[in-house]
Amino acid sequence: MGVNIRGRSFLTLLDYSPAEIRYLLDLAAEFKRLKAAGVEHKWLSGKQVVLLFEKTSTRTRCAFEVGARDLGMGVTFLDPGSSQMGKKESLADTAKVLGRMYDGIEYRGFKQSVVEDLAKYSGVPVWNGLTDDFHPTQMLADMLTVREEFGELRGRKLTFFGDARNNVANSLMVVCSKLGMHYCACGPKDLMPADWLVEKCRAVAEETGAVIEMTDDPAQGAKDCDVAYTDIWLSMGEPAELWAKRIEMLLPYQVNRELMAMAKPNAIFLHCLPSFHDRETTIGEEIYQKFGLPAMEVTDDVFLGKQARQFDEAENRMHTIKAVMYATLK
Ligand code: CP
Ligand code: NVA
Repeated sequence: MGVNIRGRSFLTLLDYSPAEIRYLLDLAAEFKRLKAAGVEHKWLSGKQVVLLFEKTSTRTRCAFEVGARDLGMGVTFLDPGSSQMGKKESLADTAKVLGRMYDGIEYRGFKQSVVEDLAKYSGVPVWNGLTDDFHPTQMLADMLTVREEFGELRGRKLTFFGDARNNVANSLMVVCSKLGMHYCACGPKDLMPADWLVEKCRAVAEETGAVIEMTDDPAQGAKDCDVAYTDIWLSMGEPAELWAKRIEMLLPYQVNRELMAMAKPNAIFLHCLPSFHDRETTIGEEIYQKFGLPAMEVTDDVFLGKQARQFDEAENRMHTIKAVMYATLK
């Protein structure tokens, strides 16, 4: 039976079957081919989407905007300063109004319950563009990038080095378990994913043949690793006072040349971005002045090196988000 996700929201990959995830990856690859060949695909012309951002963004916002326009749709961008949501109007009322005007809603913000409520009250597909708990659209781009490199995903070992209970790490554990991969959460014991999520993923892994590993030993994380993945050490919404503590906890998990040398020789490096790999950002420079660190979660030599694929990954955000919008709205 063919996969059909028309009308569905995209809130967490826990709700999606392996076949549905593979279908979205195939569709994204097809959109990538069409775009490269210059073939127009305004297949959703006449539809309208709204993008709600309560946190900042470069890739996700641009991917939704370009993807929607390539599909022929109209796009409205709303940030907290320019809408009534939360301040003068409840979430439920906002969702009901947006559902009357738009065919689909993207939301980036804090609590996962907000994106779930938007879906509940709006009556149209809602896409999670990142919450404190999950970042599911990022996962499709990541998996497409790994697939482009290695072909088959099944059995590949992906290790996340760092804050292994952040939104990106949580979602990586979910997608790897769904796709029969070997996921390794590598970080300090206090920054490991929540038990409930590990249990859910382990149950999925039993069905798919995936392996879920957790370690606080960077060498163990790097062993047999095909994909070394990291993310910033302090996520949006976390207080800046935590920097000192995080640096102390996470420096042993920095992805640097020595760590990459312990992975498979043909391993690739991925990062959802943005990244603190040099001093070319305000925060990067502040951290250097305060702690003497020229890079945080990844060193510049790895970031600029031959194994790095983070810009392919960033491009793939657009093709995969386009696939999600198309499949749920067509
Ligand atoms: N990776 C990612 O979500 O990037 P943005 O924060 O720029 O959207
Ligand atoms: N963990 C990061 C991901 C950014 C795309 C954050 O939430 O800020």
